[in-house]
Amino acid sequence: MTDIYIYFGRFHPLLVHLPIGMICGAILLGIWKRFKPEAVSYQTLALIWTTSAASAILSALTGYLHANGNDYTKESLDIHKWSGIGLAVLSSVVAVIYLFERSGLWMHRLRTTLVTSTFGLLIYTGHGGGSLTHGSEYLSISTLTEETPETMPRPASIESADLFTHAVMPILQTKCLGCHNASKKKGGLLLTDHAVILRGGKSGVGLVPGDPSASELFRRVSLPSDHKEFMPTDGKAPLTDDQRDILEWWIEKGALASMPLAKTPPDPRMREVLTNYFQLNRDPMLDMKAEPASEDDLEALRAAGFQARRISSSGAWLDVTYADSVKPDLSVLERVHEQLVWLQLPNCGLTDEDMEDIAGLDKLFRLNLSQNPIGDQGIAQLEGLKNLEQLNIYGTRVTNKSLGLLAALPSLKKLFIWDCPIDSTSVVAAVRPGLEIIHQVR
Ligand code: HEC
Repeated sequence: MTDIYIYFGRFHPLLVHLPIGMICGAILLGIWKRFKPEAVSYQTLALIWTTSAASAILSALTGYLHANGNDYTKESLDIHKWSGIGLAVLSSVVAVIYLFERSGLWMHRLRTTLVTSTFGLLIYTGHGGGSLTHGSEYLSISTLTEETPETMPRPASIESADLFTHAVMPILQTKCLGCHNASKKKGGLLLTDHAVILRGGKSGVGLVPGDPSASELFRRVSLPSDHKEFMPTDGKAPLTDDQRDILEWWIEKGALASMPLAKTPPDPRMREVLTNYFQLNRDPMLDMKAEPASEDDLEALRAAGFQARRISSSGAWLDVTYADSVKPDLSVLERVHEQLVWLQLPNCGLTDEDMEDIAGLDKLFRLNLSQNPIGDQGIAQLEGLKNLEQLNIYGTRVTNKSLGLLAALPSLKKLFIWDCPIDSTSVVAAVRPGLEIIHQVR
């Protein structure tokens, strides 16, 4: 196949629009003639059918050249090829009939049948061509709502993820499957499931479990991006460094179809890569929504001695601080409980009874209650703060008794408890993965 043929073949996707438009136009004119015979002449119909047929023949020829320059699977290609040839033949027959034989009922019926079949075949061929370029699922409604890798639920933790299912497959899906699927098998390579990924393509080199550098797939994605064998081709978005590292590590560890990370624990660097990839350290505040607090609400807070600051670009989230030593009226905080995410109330004489007002602020991510005379009874009321990530109770009267309850706060990552009547044995017992306890032995 010389380059010049391949070049002409590339006009196929453009040229096919000619027969589509013209045949539809010819059919409409034919219908119009039924209702207003004198408005459209047979010469006009003969002319438009002849040009339609010529464009269908030209499309079929360029289609033939185009097919040879691409690696489509034989089945779907064959169907499209023969329906395209059929369309060229059928439209030529219709053109010939219009040119030479117009009279008689029998002729009229034959023409109607042929024109109807041409229309059917036109739709069928067009659809077949579309499926070849976009994949056969392109026009099914379900693909619009289908979970794409981006919207797929992310694993909640490294330990609950499977490397192949949650990382490797989604990477190939977003970056490679467009050209390596059942109807478009570039380089003879399919990347649709584990078995075919291992097998490889035309070159005969597949994946070598345990040896990324000997694996063609990994070699192709690690070439310099201007190398002619670099994947993906055609300037499509390349793999990110993280994605490439994940593929490399997967092959290194045996390229298995199922690799629960709980069983193959990643080293610290890989853990960081995967944490990024799964977006595990994504700020949960980004996933929450709220209407911004009104100016009235903010005014009420200020009147009660609080400083309030909007902390997000959307203006919804509030950072509220109280910096006086006179005990504040906490009940106004209820007005902004939907927006209040950070709250600082250090050293202002709060006691266990006041914790009732804090307990309802369930959007809180950070809470500072340091140097207040609060004890275990007060802390027990904070149980419902499911979003709380940081809690500072330094210099309070909280004891060992509260540690279990605090460690059980599901989102808590940092707990400041120095200068509290708490001993280090209890601290050690309360530590869990993901929770950092900052304390000091008395
Ligand atoms: C825009 C289309 C396109 C995309 C996207 C694409 N490829 Fe390819 N791929 C090709 C073409 C064309 C060939 C055949 C030419 C060649 O071997 O360079 C090929 C060949 C290959 C081969 C060689 C197969 C063999 O055994 O000869 C591998 C491996 C490969 N691709 C991997 C990938 C990976 C991995 C991705 C995703 C990161 C990817 N491709 C994305 C078009 C694409």
